[in-house]
Order: sequence, then structure tokens, then C-alpha cells
Amino acid sequence: MVVQWYPGHMNKAKNQIQERLKLVDIVLEIRDARLPLSSRNPVLDQIINNKPRIIILNKADLADPKLTQAWLDYFNNQKQPSIALDAQHHNKLQQIRTIIEQTLQAKINKYQRNGVKNYVIRTMCIGIPNVGKSTILNKLVGKNIAVTGNKPGVTKNQNWLKAKNNLELLDTPGVLWPKIEDEQIGLKLALSGAVKDQLVNLEDLAIFALQFWQQNYSDLLLTKYHLSEAELQLTPSDLLIHLTNKWGVQEDYERAAQRVIQDVRQGNLGQYTLDEVVNDQL
Ligand code: G4P
Repeated sequence: MVVQWYPGHMNKAKNQIQERLKLVDIVLEIRDARLPLSSRNPVLDQIINNKPRIIILNKADLADPKLTQAWLDYFNNQKQPSIALDAQHHNKLQQIRTIIEQTLQAKINKYQRNGVKNYVIRTMCIGIPNVGKSTILNKLVGKNIAVTGNKPGVTKNQNWLKAKNNLELLDTPGVLWPKIEDEQIGLKLALSGAVKDQLVNLEDLAIFALQFWQQNYSDLLLTKYHLSEAELQLTPSDLLIHLTNKWGVQEDYERAAQRVIQDVRQGNLGQYTLDEVVNDQL
């Protein structure tokens, strides 16, 4: 296991979220568009019951557009409402309101039939750390509020933030730790920056990245690192050694590994998605 997760925290967070779920009509489950599967938390499936949910693939600016579309098609086939967003740079959050209204159409129709004009739709953002919950919440509310309690174990009174169109949001996003079921998921989460670097061996992580790029985005690797076709065929660990020599960092493999990881995270190696569409996985 590359990364630890904390069952104690996990349970506390789960219980808190379960309580808050009772207060909302619909959940905004935020996932990382680069990791539509690995950035989910299966605990949410257990506690969400039949509460409607919208899956938001955030940080779509960093993800491979073809795979983002493949994931949206997949969710659509599963009749699971979903949307891809770049919440940091764009304010297309009207789309979230529209999709909430579509998903809750039956409920809204009922309000309207009963002559209720000032109905309120209540929602909350849930997701693993660093996936963009606070950014989305702030954009929906239209101002910068200090989002607090963004850690399991922090309790506070629930406040509702008003967004336009009868929408209200809980001011405290629900944080669920990623479920790291296997080493691959741990490495994917670490590479995207969702878990702390201290928990991972950086050389392992860079080797994982190099292998993934060799298999999936070799053109980008070739151009960015000025590799020959023969160099591209090296084993991932030999490629790291080659890059270490090439960058003149004198057998400091960790430094070379850091550079590869930074290049991935900063998008210097292009847009990427680490999870392929796998059937029967929401
Ligand atoms: P959280 O509440 O789920 O923990 O996440 P938060 O909104 O704090 O966002 C985590 C980081 O991700 C922030 O960067 C934020 O700016 C960035 N982010 C959020 N949405 C997007 C997006 O759609 N695209 C990209 N590229 N980045 C996004 P940070 O470096 O931690 O902070 P800052 O630089 O914004 O101050």
C-alpha cells in the first residue's frame, strides 16, 4: 500500500455527512475529471441512499477531453446526471443549476402544481480533498466566502448560502477521504496531487507516470523530453535514470522524479486522464 488512509477520520466524516444528507434535496458529488473513478468514494454510495446526485467532473481543463466525453457518455448511459467543469477558470455554473432543475423536475412540478412559488432546493458539495468543492461552492454563491469545517471532525452549525434560482447550499462541504483500494489508485491520486507527497515514494510515482505516458501519451513524452524512439522504448525505471543523466542532476533520482511529477501536475506533459471507462462502475 503506497498511501495510508485513516479509518477513524473516515467514519467521523461519514457520520457527519449522513446527518447533513437528510437536510438536502440533491447532492453535488465532485470528482476529479482526471480520475473519474479513483476520485470517488464508495462510502458515499452506501450513505446516499436514493438521494438524487449529480456527478461533477471538475478540473476538466487538466483532463484529456476525449476521455472526459467518454465518461460523460458512460454516465449518461447509466442515467446518472453528470457534467464536466473547469470551476477555477470559468463561470459556467449556470449549467449546474440547469442540471439540478432537470434532475428534480418531478419535485419542482409538484411544487408548481400546488401553487408553491417560493420553494427552495437545498444541496451540498461532497468529494475527496482538493477536488474543488470550495471553488464550486463559491462560484455558485457568487462570492468568496471562507469555507470552514473542511476537515472531518470539525463540527459547526449548518449555515445555508443562497445562490440564484431558489438554490441554497450548505456552507460546509462534505469531505470524504479517497478509498485507496489498491496501489494503482494510490499512485493515481498521488500523481494528481490529491494525497500528500510525503505518503508516497517519489521515484515510484515518477516511474508510474513515465510508464503511463509511454503507454498512453507517448507523443507528448517524446516532444517534451526530446526523446528518440529508442529512448522511448526504455523501461520506465531506465527512462528515469536516462532523464536524470540528461538533466545533469548527478544521480539525484529523487530530484528528477520531482521534475517529472511537477511536469505532470502543471500540465507540461499535456492534458491527461488516468482512469479508463470501466463498465459497471459509477
Ligand atoms: P476542496 O474544497 O475540494 O478541498 O478544493 P478547493 O476548492 O480548495 O480547490 C483545490 C485546488 O484546486 C485549488 O488550488 C483550486 O484553485 C484548484 N481548482 C479548483 N477547481 C479547479 C479547476 O476546475 N481547474 C483547475 N485547474 N484547478 C482547480 P490551490 O492551488 O490549492 O489553491 P489556489 O491556487 O486556487 O489558491
